[in-house]
Amino acid sequence: MTIPRKVAVIGAGEIGVGWAALCASAGWPVAIFDLNPETMDRASNEIERRTRALVALDRAPESIVERGLRELVRANFLSEAVQDADWVIEAIQEDVTAKQKLLAGIEQAVGGDVLISSSSSGLPPTEIFGRCRKLDRCLVTHPLNPPELIPIVEIVPESRTSAASISRAVEYLRALGRFPIVLKKPIPGYVVGRVAAAVWRECIDLVLQGVISVDDMDRAVSLGPALGWAAAGPHLTYHLASGEGGIRYFTQRLLASFESWWRQLAHWSQLEPDQQRALTQSIEKAYKGKIEFLREARDRRLSAILRSLEQARAPSGSESC
Ligand SMILES: NC(=O)c1ccc[n+]([C@@H]2O[C@H](COP(=O)([O-])OP(=O)(O)OC[C@H]3O[C@@H](n4cnc5c(N)ncnc54)[C@H](O)[C@@H]3O)[C@@H](O)[C@H]2O)c1
Repeated sequence: MTIPRKVAVIGAGEIGVGWAALCASAGWPVAIFDLNPETMDRASNEIERRTRALVALDRAPESIVERGLRELVRANFLSEAVQDADWVIEAIQEDVTAKQKLLAGIEQAVGGDVLISSSSSGLPPTEIFGRCRKLDRCLVTHPLNPPELIPIVEIVPESRTSAASISRAVEYLRALGRFPIVLKKPIPGYVVGRVAAAVWRECIDLVLQGVISVDDMDRAVSLGPALGWAAAGPHLTYHLASGEGGIRYFTQRLLASFESWWRQLAHWSQLEPDQQRALTQSIEKAYKGKIEFLREARDRRLSAILRSLEQARAPSGSESC
């Protein structure tokens, strides 16, 4: 399995810290750089905390984590971060102009065989890499938050990304214990963001209509479809929902109901300021604890779900989900 000699993560916000924690937890040398010195100070502690949390959650061996943390470089400059890196991960905010400028600078600072990936949540790769000249080694690797726990990473190639670079990204991500999925063509929001946006819009709408409270809504999803989908995904779930007849029987019996619901689902594309305020207040009222504690509890549950899924999977790897 190919692993990089060194990874450089540019941008030390929520996602950059997550990438750095993930790479450090595999014992890989990582350098991290952020333009904001205060963010860099916070990021150092946060990377250590999140990497060591993986040991406590039984997701990484302590000796490897400590090796990764010893090798962690808090770079003072972009050039220092990318020096000798085989893989540069861009993780700055979702601003296409800022990403273009940074990626053009990264391209100039690294050799021609360095893999360059963006963590964008949904921008078209053609725009993200719009100021780069050598596109065969550029692609999007979109993680989910927190990247050190959720295994799916969407790979979104640019039309000029080489097959070798896609394979290399897949190998690196698999070596980090991720499940990379390669999109066949780019689409705004990619796949994961579109599914999340569709479901979240309906959840917001049901809360704002007064049909359900925020915490019951969250439970309805996390213990309802999301639990089934964690085991089987939506298509397999419905294929298994009508006995031996599978999806053919299911669609005969229930497609008309789904069609009548689809006609009534929310289809707005913008929240008005008063709706935004109402939603924010309802969520803050439902979850009063400190973010730090809420996140810790969420990570414990996530890790338990992952462990159960890993234990339940057939050893042959023949299962599709
Ligand atoms: N937060 C999420 O849940 C999530 C999930 C998946 C993907 N993403 C994507 O990951 C990327 C990063 O998101 P985030 O939430 O971590 O953002 P963030 O705003 O938390 O952090 C961005 C960081 O980049 C730094 N930065 C800006 N310009 C820079 C430059 N030129 N050089 C170095 N550092 C620079 C900023 O100082 C900031 O600390 C975005 O593209 C986002 O869409 C976010």
